[in-house]
Amino acid sequence: MAYIVTARKYRPQVFEELVGQEHIANTLKNAILKERVGHAYIFSGPRGIGKTSAARIFAKALNCKNGPTPTPCNECTFCTEITEGRSLDLVEIDGASNRRIDEIRQLRENIRFVPSAAKYKIYIIDEVHMLTSEAFNALLKTLEEPPSHVIFMFATTEINKVPQTIRSRCQQFVFKRIAIPEIVKMLKKVLRDVSMEAEEDALFWIAKSAVGAMRDAQSVLDQMISYCEGTIKEEDVFYVLGIPSYDIYHEFARSIAGEDFSTAVSLLDKLLRDGMEVSTLVTGLIEYFRNLYILAADKETSNLVDLPEQDIDTMKSFLSSFTKKDINNILVLLSRTYLDTKNSGLARELLEITLIKLVRYKDIIQPVSLIKRLEELKQKITAGGQVADEKKNTPPPEDNEEKDVSNASEDNADMIKRIISHFSKKRRAIAEFLNRAKKYNFDNNLLTVTYEQNERLSYEHVNEDSTKKFIEKEINKLLQLDIRVNFVINNRKAPGKEDPPLSPEVSKVIDVFKGEIIPNNNYGGN
Ligand SMILES: Nc1ncnc2c1ncn2[C@@H]1O[C@H](COP(=O)(O)OP(=O)(O)OP(=O)(O)O)[C@@H](O)[C@H]1O
Ligand SMILES: [Mg+2]
Ligand SMILES: [Zn+2]
Repeated sequence: MAYIVTARKYRPQVFEELVGQEHIANTLKNAILKERVGHAYIFSGPRGIGKTSAARIFAKALNCKNGPTPTPCNECTFCTEITEGRSLDLVEIDGASNRRIDEIRQLRENIRFVPSAAKYKIYIIDEVHMLTSEAFNALLKTLEEPPSHVIFMFATTEINKVPQTIRSRCQQFVFKRIAIPEIVKMLKKVLRDVSMEAEEDALFWIAKSAVGAMRDAQSVLDQMISYCEGTIKEEDVFYVLGIPSYDIYHEFARSIAGEDFSTAVSLLDKLLRDGMEVSTLVTGLIEYFRNLYILAADKETSNLVDLPEQDIDTMKSFLSSFTKKDINNILVLLSRTYLDTKNSGLARELLEITLIKLVRYKDIIQPVSLIKRLEELKQKITAGGQVADEKKNTPPPEDNEEKDVSNASEDNADMIKRIISHFSKKRRAIAEFLNRAKKYNFDNNLLTVTYEQNERLSYEHVNEDSTKKFIEKEINKLLQLDIRVNFVINNRKAPGKEDPPLSPEVSKVIDVFKGEIIPNNNYGGN
């Protein structure tokens, strides 16, 4: 026997087989039982969810030799002719290719003739939103007072494009996307019939990829059946669908939690080399953290997370690393990235910057812990000598004597002028941002540039890794020095009092940690 694709072979033939649309099946069955069948119906909803199937079942229910009946027999000539698509009393019109007024006029001529054999002459107009406005107008008159033997069933994926005048003359039925478990159940049935096995998660991802459309899921299943030998595996599904395995999102979450930038960025690199789109990845990450947020929120809503058990368990294990507020911040960053990367030639770079921010997000958005760390270190330092690491790395002061510019405050002003004027020739923006700094402090080969809170943007600009390196290089070239530059944001200050300069130790710690000081009060101080 010729091969028939699953979607056709498994077209529902009775209301009971229509998966996930019970609300519609029941209403239509009741209309028949109560003898309240209307003369025009409109079925709307996404593709592949049973609109055409429902229309045909309804047609059978009306024209079956036992009909109108909620349970068409599927055996009489009326039923079988409809199933086989050769019933003269069921006319299916494709709205997309018969959209002009002439065709609707023709239809108006035809409906005057009584059905050839059945009780009703039924017209199914698919994609009805494609009709021209003249065609709609012509149809309107017919819909107003159709002959009693005529029933119209319109189907559309875009109900908004159907004029209100038409809609108000029809009974409207909105079809729902089919839930993943229901699709999985159907896929299992198909597999049983062809004696194939599949991993549970493989079926889950097939169903999920279909976004509620049964036909799409069935088509993917057909593809998987041809591709796989014996058992359909989860990894095969990812491969055939060309979507990344969900593990990569766990991997991203893990590297963010562990502040492991290099893993995150190598993973990104690999995925992009494998042909993945930045937009797919950003959307995937948003969805991932959205799910994580829901899992963090409370038990009540966790059923909103459509994922295999195993993935949910993995995600739950991350909840010790992320608070709800963290996830919320991550989502804000990601959604901004989504907008920024759209149509941007720098999509990859922007996503990388986001990854940097995400990996460092704890420093950025949980300043309290950083400040605590700094305070502890400061105490240790003042209690006795330098930070261990620094001891090793910093050469003894005498080596650098002639370059040491600490406390040369008179000269400072001059030097700053020189620096700014240098940059105004090199890169005006940098000069501008440097100029906005509140204070420059040279100390022990470290130039600390302090910004006020309201100059955070300037600070962020100059503190960006590559800009900072550039500034450092240029200053060293200009002043013939070998110093490091550190940008900081001014912390709280006593009213009316000048800020004390950051102590060299704290500046060093900030430098070691690549950190910054952020005041408590921005974050509601938790
Ligand atoms: N609710 C459903 N229950 C069971 N199978 C379904 C359902 N919806 C769709 N299918 C499967 O998908 C195939 C196509 O369904 P149908 O033609 O009814 O979709 P549709 O909503 O009319 O789609 P389109 O908007 O693309 O015309 C069916 O033959 C069937 O295999
Ligand atoms: Mg259809
Ligand atoms: Zn019948």
